[in-house]
Amino acid sequence: MCCGGRCCVSMTQCFFDYSTSKVLVIRSKSVGTLNRFCQAVVLAYIIGYVCVLKKGYQDTDTVISSVTTKVKGIALTNTSDLGLRIWDVADYVIPPQEENSFFVLTNLNITPNQTQTRCAEVSVDTGLCVCVNMSYCEILVTLCPGVQTGRCIQFSVTEKTCEVLAWCPLEKGNDPPDPPLLAEAMNFTVLIKNSIRYPKFNFNKRNILPHVNSSYLSQCVFNRTTDPDCPIFRLGDIASEAGEDFQTMAVHGGVMGVQILWDCNLDMPESWCMPTYTFRRLDNKDPDNNVAPGYNIRFAKYYKNGGKESRNLVKGYGIRFEIMVFGKAGKFNIVPTLLNIGAGLALLGLVNVVCDWIVLTFMRNRQQYSQEKYAYVGDFGLWWRHMNNVSNSHADSCPHLPEI
Ligand SMILES: *[C@@H]1O[C@H](CO)[C@@H](O)[C@H](O)[C@H]1NC(C)=O
Repeated sequence: MCCGGRCCVSMTQCFFDYSTSKVLVIRSKSVGTLNRFCQAVVLAYIIGYVCVLKKGYQDTDTVISSVTTKVKGIALTNTSDLGLRIWDVADYVIPPQEENSFFVLTNLNITPNQTQTRCAEVSVDTGLCVCVNMSYCEILVTLCPGVQTGRCIQFSVTEKTCEVLAWCPLEKGNDPPDPPLLAEAMNFTVLIKNSIRYPKFNFNKRNILPHVNSSYLSQCVFNRTTDPDCPIFRLGDIASEAGEDFQTMAVHGGVMGVQILWDCNLDMPESWCMPTYTFRRLDNKDPDNNVAPGYNIRFAKYYKNGGKESRNLVKGYGIRFEIMVFGKAGKFNIVPTLLNIGAGLALLGLVNVVCDWIVLTFMRNRQQYSQEKYAYVGDFGLWWRHMNNVSNSHADSCPHLPEI
């Protein structure tokens, strides 16, 4: 009777067979060195990169956060339009609250006392609305913006433009004042309160650290070397840390990013989990491609003037600060550990395949190695032919297999 290609006297003998693979040992310095080198590389990858650098033994979670801000500071301006004027938080933070960001007004053009009437279109910007008589305005009606009345009226002593129905007087389209009106915004401070959570590890923390007391908080200002834990930032410092000049940026406005990074290793003490702050400018300030620079918004204050609805139009330039919180926490967990060990062992197995390939393809003695490594047999035919052979010959002996 035959089983598994070997001949057994009986089923019992077959049952007590133990099969193991035969190993070919190549005693060669070069192959041995190659093998050890590959193994060392794989081990270095597993230990150095996967375990130490990437902390492959840890389960990870990404941060969930909430941010609130509070700006403080007072500015004083003295202009012909507004006279002597104090600006406090309610004036320059627009809108009063936003999600993960805040806007601080730094500069403005004001068009006071507008009412809804008819007036000559401003031609300075486009030059499109300049006319000589009424028929010009009938032709210009699609080119000249605004709701046209069709009349051509005096804009200045020398110029005539088409008349429009609008909030008059119209905004002049002047450049923003330089230096900026609210230059003192540089000295405003903002308290950024940030609470984070790693839900998978049930870990909560906030950027007002446990050792910070209220008397310290009332007078500290963030400084990377002397006060790195203070969550109060001077706006001028934010700009200068990002490599920007606040006053230049304040003229046309812009967008600044405040990045709070919470990378935590929760296998370590909780107090090691600390936020790090970095700042950078987010909008384009490239002087070569500076079409439509900065950031501005328009808003109006409405009032009744002798029963007639009037407004003061403000084109406000300012800096929007975006607070971005990101981070990852890791903590030991058996599942990723086993997964990484498994992947590492599989990689070690790959070393054999690579060495085999090199030995059998590139080595000078590859023919001999290949002869030693592989034993070849021919086609033994189909199993039922053996069965027939067996039944035809003596019951306990093997069939004569064909030579290769
Ligand atoms: C900001 O404050 C400093 C010191 O208090 C002062 O010297 C400086 O003039 C202020 N900057 C502006 C633009 O007001």
